[in-house]
Amino acid sequence: MSNTPQTFEEWWVGSHYRKFVESEGVPLYEESYLDNLATLPLAEWERRGGKAAYTRLGDQEVNNLQIVEIPPKGQLKPEKHMYEAVMYVMSGTGATMIWQEGEPRQTVEWSEGTLLAIPLNAWHQEFNSSGDQPCRFLFGTNMAQVINLYQNLDFIFNNPFVFKDRYRHEMEKDYAEKNKHWSLRLSQTNFIPDVRKLKLDTWAERGTRTSIMRLHMGNTKSQIHVLEVSEGTYVTAHRHGPGAHVIQIEGEGYELLFNPGDEINAEGRRKVPIKPYGVISPRRNEYHQHFNTGKGPFRQIGFKGWGQSMSSTKKYDPVGAARSDDRFSSAFKLRYDKEDPAVKEEYYRELEKNGVTLRLEPIDQGG
Ligand SMILES: [Fe+2]
Repeated sequence: MSNTPQTFEEWWVGSHYRKFVESEGVPLYEESYLDNLATLPLAEWERRGGKAAYTRLGDQEVNNLQIVEIPPKGQLKPEKHMYEAVMYVMSGTGATMIWQEGEPRQTVEWSEGTLLAIPLNAWHQEFNSSGDQPCRFLFGTNMAQVINLYQNLDFIFNNPFVFKDRYRHEMEKDYAEKNKHWSLRLSQTNFIPDVRKLKLDTWAERGTRTSIMRLHMGNTKSQIHVLEVSEGTYVTAHRHGPGAHVIQIEGEGYELLFNPGDEINAEGRRKVPIKPYGVISPRRNEYHQHFNTGKGPFRQIGFKGWGQSMSSTKKYDPVGAARSDDRFSSAFKLRYDKEDPAVKEEYYRELEKNGVTLRLEPIDQGG
């Protein structure tokens, strides 16, 4: 990638993340949502082998997704990087090898539903273990932010610094087994074999029969969570800083997206159907609201960001401290009783259409 801008426009508004994706020779997907990451067209990926694509969703370059496919019996070339990456497997089976320079390698096997954190700047290499099926996974990363921050790919991909506090072979022989439930709705882990089966804690403040587990993975203070909404109900709308990605992993429903000021304006709301493996990324301060219209649970992974501590209290936000009771703060929840009654009416019509008779009345429980 050339670092020399040729035109004023390139110099003034050029995004190094965009230039990086161009240099990878694979597609960049934009807008606010993609309906299925498991079938999204990818392109041959020369740098690591296999196929890949990137996203720039929600008009931001803080967090992004890298979607990757490996053909049967295939493998990627090893890499390391100065950005965080958490892998989610959408199909197939395989393994990831993790190591620090000069140290023994550790292999973690995975299949659909696996969530695995890649330690910062450690080597990793992915293998497809099937002889006849491709495998597809995604990395939720802060690559866009890191590339734009340092503007030097050599620093990001060929950096000799070893983060011994994140991963050392002798300390992390049990890397994949590490799992500590620190407090209600808050766990530290590096590897979850099938996140669709992960036990969550209830979160009544956010919705009727809603549960969540916030995951701090790869020895970071990350904001990754798994959220589940029961059949026959939906969560309150909320909004916050840019860069969150919500990936549907189980169940079906829809998402409402709208801007502050459009709380009671049906015209201003965008409605997006969602099923596995769709993704939405709300824009900065854009309200988003999840509705389960299927039979059974509705489960999502949220990638929000890295580097913030105290995420469980929402005390800090990528764009500054926020209070959830402050209408003008960047983290704000719209209580059920403040929402447009048309939202619930529309939801019940959707349930009826799908033959779901269970209705769990949305009731605010504080928070
Ligand atoms: Fe959110």
